[in-house]
Amino acid sequence: MIAVAILAAGKGTRMKSNLPKVLHQLGGKSMVERVLNSTIDLSPSRQIVIVGYCADQVQTALQAWSGLEFVEQTEQLGTGHAIQQILPVLKEFEGDLLVLNGDLPLLRPQTLKKMLVTHQTHENAATILTAHIPNPKGYGRVFCDARMHLQEIIEDRDCSPAQSQNQRINAGVYCFRWSALEQVLPHLKADNDQQEYYLTDAVNYLEPVMVLDVEDYQEILGINDRKQLATAYNILQNRIKDDWLTAGVTLIDPDSITIDETVELASDIVIEPQTHLRGNTKIDTGSHIGPGTLIENSHIGANVRVLYSVIKDSQIGDNGQIGPYTHLRGEVQIGSQCRVGNFVEIKKTTLGDRTKVAHLSYLGNATLGAQVNIGAGTITANYDGFNKHPTYIGDRTKTGANSVLVAPITLGTDVTVAAGSTLTQDVGDDALVIARQHQSVLPGWRPSTSK
Ligand code: UD1
Ligand code: CA
Repeated sequence: MIAVAILAAGKGTRMKSNLPKVLHQLGGKSMVERVLNSTIDLSPSRQIVIVGYCADQVQTALQAWSGLEFVEQTEQLGTGHAIQQILPVLKEFEGDLLVLNGDLPLLRPQTLKKMLVTHQTHENAATILTAHIPNPKGYGRVFCDARMHLQEIIEDRDCSPAQSQNQRINAGVYCFRWSALEQVLPHLKADNDQQEYYLTDAVNYLEPVMVLDVEDYQEILGINDRKQLATAYNILQNRIKDDWLTAGVTLIDPDSITIDETVELASDIVIEPQTHLRGNTKIDTGSHIGPGTLIENSHIGANVRVLYSVIKDSQIGDNGQIGPYTHLRGEVQIGSQCRVGNFVEIKKTTLGDRTKVAHLSYLGNATLGAQVNIGAGTITANYDGFNKHPTYIGDRTKTGANSVLVAPITLGTDVTVAAGSTLTQDVGDDALVIARQHQSVLPGWRPSTSK
């Protein structure tokens, strides 16, 4: 059995923020959620979050996670003191306890698995994750023998100059045999430079303890300030983009593209510069997106071309052309082979197959059939100042340039609307409708000059 404890009681002074450090967002998720996520594959039977600074806020932010236990550390007297708080909670527990600092959002689940395997096959009292990092300043240094058995962990500030030359650092990820840790926890002393109770001292008291070096040191970068948070975002993005490149997606100028890890892409897609794919977005094969496009929570079909556009909460059928400068938002459904073009905004609207809205239009709360042609500048006047009203347009209907459709209104199939019409009443199938002032011409007329 495995229990997980996450240290999340600290304020994170160096973030210079009112928000507790572990709640800072990284690619759409808080750091502490990322740490929790990295442990899911281990199927822990208990998940404990140790909270202190703004405990309520951390608890509220994690409401959606079922089965979490929150333990409060009212005074932050060190990492060892934090783990002492769970002694009563895990009284009857038999198994291993995985302890993770809450500011380690880049850990890979495989790394934790590997650590657990080492821990269990060697029947260690504790196993700790270590790394060789270029600049080990600030981290605890780990000393071990050739068989990777721990000799000692010494905090950076307690190291002699010779000891601080050691580049193997303590990542802040520990696996303990709980029955062994339980024995030593009550005996920690705060006889160090910071006068804190160190969890690393508990490790020093145990035997045997093994050390496992992580292959990719970026995984264990702890986030203490916003610069490190920004670096962590880049690391996450590089992982995501490397995976998509390997999977057969072309990224042109990847550094200018961002892709959330929740996005799904088929192979043979091309993503051009300055394109951002967010949330639950899915794109089918052969599509070509960007440059300059934002797509959020949307499904783009196969072989769709999207150029300089913003698409949110919408679905685009196969073989469509969107943009340049199209804005789709709030449940837009576009059929296959549609064209939505320059400076068009569409909201809460459905377009049947092969329908075109090519230039300068606004469509809201509308349902359009197949092969409809919306002329340049056509507007649905869907809002009367209080309520939104629907517009229905039948198959093969064409609206002339600059038509205004005052909703609620229904146009049948095969209707032609004359340019410049303002329609306020329904039109049946198969008709021409003209709703505008006749043009008057007065020959020889000139403005009278007033004196
Ligand atoms: C700790 C380790 C150090 C390691 C480093 C890795 C100790 C004594 N040192 O140092 O060896 O290299 O992490 O990043 O453990 N926290 C609490 N309650 C407390 C104190 C801290 O919950 O009373 C939490 C913090 O919110 C944070 C985590 O514990 O998530 C680590 O605390 P931090 O002060 O950042 O430890 P370091 O000094 O970085
Ligand atoms: Ca830290």
